Amino acid sequence: MDKNIYCKYFDNCNDCDYESLIKHKLFKKKEIDFLTSNATKIKHELLKDYVRQWMTVISNYKSSIKKLVIIDLMAASGRFFNKDKQISDGTCRNILNLSREFCESNRRENKKIQVNLFFSDIVEQKCVCMRRYNYNSKIEDLNINITTGDYIDVANDIIENNKYDKDTYYLIIYDPYKADINWKILKKFYSEFINVDVIITHFFITDSFRSIPEATRKITIERLERTYGQSIDDLKEICKIKGFNKRMYLRGCFIKKAENLRTRAKVYYLPTLSTKNKTLYDTCVISNSYKAGEILKLSMWKHTNNIINDINIVRNSLFEKYTQSELDNWKAPEKDYDKYYNPDEICKVIFDNFKGNIISTEQLNEYYSYHRYIPAKRSEFKAILKTKFGVKLSKSNINFKGE
Ligand SMILES: C[S@@+](CC[C@H](N)C(=O)[O-])C[C@H]1O[C@@H](n2cnc3c(N)ncnc32)[C@H](O)[C@@H]1O
Repeated sequence: MDKNIYCKYFDNCNDCDYESLIKHKLFKKKEIDFLTSNATKIKHELLKDYVRQWMTVISNYKSSIKKLVIIDLMAASGRFFNKDKQISDGTCRNILNLSREFCESNRRENKKIQVNLFFSDIVEQKCVCMRRYNYNSKIEDLNINITTGDYIDVANDIIENNKYDKDTYYLIIYDPYKADINWKILKKFYSEFINVDVIITHFFITDSFRSIPEATRKITIERLERTYGQSIDDLKEICKIKGFNKRMYLRGCFIKKAENLRTRAKVYYLPTLSTKNKTLYDTCVISNSYKAGEILKLSMWKHTNNIINDINIVRNSLFEKYTQSELDNWKAPEKDYDKYYNPDEICKVIFDNFKGNIISTEQLNEYYSYHRYIPAKRSEFKAILKTKFGVKLSKSNINFKGE
């Protein structure tokens, strides 16, 4: 068997189970991926859903499209152990399975679209796991490249060895453990390939809020300054201000850096909330096409729905024990739920934007398409605009005059 594919510990990747890893002290802790929270599970589902829709939308976008390239250079192993020691698929395995289905279906329909996957991770054992999973699975039009290494080196190699082609579309998945974004390498991708969409996770809770005030190590300071484009002294000062919405500030810095990646780059984002109504991380898409953003917004609403239902159960059960002002206080530190997922609040934003005007349906659709976080195609918005804000909707226009 090819040396690269041989696993040090198991003959078959299905042999690998948590009990034996731990019992025999086989893998080191950093070689194992854990499904530590529901948020990771949601992320896997979201990224899977996103990539599936992206492949379909982009390949139908122009008949000339010949190649899709999906790049995940912090891919992990693709197998995650949950607290019950069961295994589930991470993003790279999901992408591989989706790509197989995509290529098989194209073959049946006589469509010729090549799919190139580039996966890598800095931990060799994780790459071994990926290779094991791919072993012996030759599919027409599907090329899989797995390398071990630092993502910057691997990214530079990809840029060097691939030429610009107007009919090739790139999707970069950028999912670090921490708030750690190297905008320079993304900029290089954009300047070389043009048709590039990026999906990034931006972590707050476990990272930025705690690490900014405590940052003393050079490596941490460099990382934070690079990600947010602000000096560590400014970031520390901001974090000291009482009552200041640090999350909105860091989010703003992050979006500004993302927007500067290229001219006309659009940035779309939405937070993933915990059942305690805390923002865990934002998922952000950078693209020149509103379609890439639309996929994100609709997927986020779908995947956040379950959490929102849980939040409402907690809220409703609290109503019996607390007064309204106590409830408002309890809610006060965390505004993201209302801002991003509460249809009433969102309709207020739409209403304030068009107040006093009569606009066409196309104008409203355009507003939805380019809005950073408000999704289109939600019938509840229409109903709320009508009943709560007195907006008159006809086939040809929308009257925000409130007459
Ligand atoms: C959050 S995990 C990725 C999870 C994966 N996207 C998923 O959803 O299944 C981040 C990964 O980045 C890897 N990593 C950390 N630093 C890296 C570096 N400098 N270059 C490449 N990979 C790195 C870690 O080993 C880890 O597997």
